[in-house]
Amino acid sequence: MTLDAEEHRRASLEAWEAAAPGWVHRQREISAFGAPVSHQMVEAIDPQPGQRLLELAAGLGETGMLAAELVAPVGSVIISDQAEAMVEGARARAAGLGIENVEFKVFGAEWIDLPVASVDAVLCRWGYMLMADPDAALGETRRVLRPGGRLALAVWDALAANPWASLPAEVLFEHGAQAPDPDQPGPFSLGSVEQVTQLLEQTGFTEIEVQGVDVVRRHPDFEDFWETTLDISRSLHDLVLQRPAEEIAQIRAAVAARLADYTASDGAVEVPGRSLVAVASA
Ligand SMILES: C[S@@+](CC[C@H](N)C(=O)[O-])C[C@H]1O[C@@H](n2cnc3c(N)ncnc32)[C@H](O)[C@@H]1O
Repeated sequence: MTLDAEEHRRASLEAWEAAAPGWVHRQREISAFGAPVSHQMVEAIDPQPGQRLLELAAGLGETGMLAAELVAPVGSVIISDQAEAMVEGARARAAGLGIENVEFKVFGAEWIDLPVASVDAVLCRWGYMLMADPDAALGETRRVLRPGGRLALAVWDALAANPWASLPAEVLFEHGAQAPDPDQPGPFSLGSVEQVTQLLEQTGFTEIEVQGVDVVRRHPDFEDFWETTLDISRSLHDLVLQRPAEEIAQIRAAVAARLADYTASDGAVEVPGRSLVAVASA
């Protein structure tokens, strides 16, 4: 199916503006879940004091803020996202943490509102695969990077490597939801080392390395897993909550049953997943 890029951009912006309050509410869970990925990304760009960094599709700026302390006090991080509500969430988070060497910008990653060769490194966790035109976004990323500047990005590995997402998805497919088209933007649409490498090569990046990073979603009980999932995944939220109460209860029970292998005797849930982290030079 051909992608209507403009329609995708409109719907994506609307969905992420709507998802922002859930992300702010579940910030602690997202932070714990993504920490190994962010650490690997920041290590890969090896930030130095005084550098200027850019985080794209930053959400609440988790990864950029981790890097901010390494470039302080003179260096800084620009935290950017297409969704104003996400950027506002990031701003509040930085204020709460007392991080001062960050600035905030609302822009889409396919048209980055910064001059040529103006940043030393770029971070983007779980962003490029959601974009209508990842090639354009990577072209823009190269444009704003100084020659030789580093990019660290994370995408999700294949859906099958991410039971935290695949098990609820299976239940929804059984309830008539459409399986996502792998050729359309989506959380798992760049889910292989080959795809990420090819995309970086064709957009002119060099010295490309891609590694898998294991993550775990940890929750005290299934209720917490379920509510967090509805809060952070707009698509799941809409697909589930539009149904009659009885069917929602059936879906919830079926997901709980699928997670049995990942549920301890005290009810705690630990579901694994796998992200890919790529580093490349401009
Ligand atoms: C899965 S969230 C990841 C947020 C954050 N990077 C993190 O890892 O916690 C995806 C984010 O990408 C942003 N996004 C999606 N497409 C974008 C685009 N074309 N330009 C800028 N941001 C985009 C969304 O608004 C959302 O905040």
